[in-house]
Amino acid sequence: MVTAYDATFARMLDQGGAEILLVGDSLGMVVQGQDTTLPVTLDEMIYHCRAVARGSKRAHLVGDMPFMSYQVSAEEALRNAGRFLSEGAMHAVKLEGGAEMAGTIRRIAGAGIPVMGHVGLTPQSVHALGGFKVQGKREEEAQRVLSDARAVAEAGAYAIVLEGIPSELASRITAELPIPTIGIGAGPHCDGQVLVCYDLLGLTPERVPRFVKQYESFYERGVAALARFRQEVRDGAFPAAEHSFGTIPERSTPPAPGGLAAVASAVGDEPVRG
Ligand code: KIV
Repeated sequence: MVTAYDATFARMLDQGGAEILLVGDSLGMVVQGQDTTLPVTLDEMIYHCRAVARGSKRAHLVGDMPFMSYQVSAEEALRNAGRFLSEGAMHAVKLEGGAEMAGTIRRIAGAGIPVMGHVGLTPQSVHALGGFKVQGKREEEAQRVLSDARAVAEAGAYAIVLEGIPSELASRITAELPIPTIGIGAGPHCDGQVLVCYDLLGLTPERVPRFVKQYESFYERGVAALARFRQEVRDGAFPAAEHSFGTIPERSTPPAPGGLAAVASAVGDEPVRG
């Protein structure tokens, strides 16, 4: 499982063999540049779900219910979960929480909407947890995560994300639960693994948590590509004949030295940006 937020990435990840695409509320951090996932709205999630559904052909699609779209009441949660399927073209929803969410999971799943659970480090509770910290290190905490996972499975979730918990605990939960576990920062013994696609592809160079493996360096490659584009425009090497229509006449004036500012002053205008 990997996250996806738009049609182009969904197409690429689907073609790369992702079995599940999660439209995660992590988009608040990696797409919107927020510090947490809390400001993400239901309408924003539905917008991104629609885009991902257009780009994907074969993956199972899961929409992440954002903060306050399922916590108030099971009825409201059901109505909002329904929007992910009817408007967002998702196949299932994911929501965070353990025993306290069992009733809500039961209500949504009972209405025929597959629910993926999420326990351990639940980012929507970042302030209650005192930060993005590994959960279940102490025995008492580990028991709580274990009973949360049990409650989620018993309530009818078809799969569960285990985030930010020790490997031994994830291994124990995986062995015990009748549903598949999908780990992130939970060691190798889960049934599946999930990563944020921006992390996996190396688009978040300033924020690489320990549990992430970067399989590419798209950020650096993007910066280098832009530098080449800029240089070729300045040199007059781009666009070449193959990128142009008709025949290219001889240049009557040399390219303006000094980039955008010089171009702007050559046409007697203020530069739009520095
Ligand atoms: O929002 C998200 O991307 C997630 C995954 C990290 C599991 O919930």
